[in-house]
Amino acid sequence: MNFEKYIRDINDFPKKGIVFKDITPLLGDAKAFEACADHLSSLVHTPIDKVVAIESRGFFFGGIIAQKLNAGFVPVRKKGKLPYDVLEVTYELEYGKDVLQIHKDAIQKGEKVVIHDDILATGGTAKAVCELVESLGGEIIQCNFIAILEFLKGREKIEYPIKSLLSY
Ligand code: PRP
Ligand code: MG
Repeated sequence: MNFEKYIRDINDFPKKGIVFKDITPLLGDAKAFEACADHLSSLVHTPIDKVVAIESRGFFFGGIIAQKLNAGFVPVRKKGKLPYDVLEVTYELEYGKDVLQIHKDAIQKGEKVVIHDDILATGGTAKAVCELVESLGGEIIQCNFIAILEFLKGREKIEYPIKSLLSY
């Protein structure tokens, strides 16, 4: 399937000069959504224990990928949303700064983890999540994305295998 045609560019969102990759057309098409979930799962070739997905847009496919791979689902959320004991990390975004948190008991030492998000841009978000998973003793098998914005060089920040459906 040509997934590219379900992702549209929105100029100057959320700020002037940023070209936003809008995946809502992909989410809104039943066949494209299902095919995308299948493809994202098929990028993982070894058994894993957990899929860690990143709020908000990583949640659309994160749970489905976890189910397809027979793995547990772990949400990484923005500060203040998780109710139990958390680890947190501050990170730089393409546009701003933020804090991400994970429950301290979400991953056991040695568990095999796939990190999923919609887009790899500057890599700040994914790198921060790698740090959270490392701190809990998880073994990161792969970072998995719908699309990579190669020109932002996020790849250089990530020291684990990176897989994606699309790259720009
Ligand atoms: C976007 C996108 C990725 C991240 C990529 O999320 O969904 O999570 O930015 O950027 P980076 O590689 O430069 O860190 P955003 O923080 O906009 O929030 P959202 O998912 O809640 O929309
Ligand atoms: Mg996001």
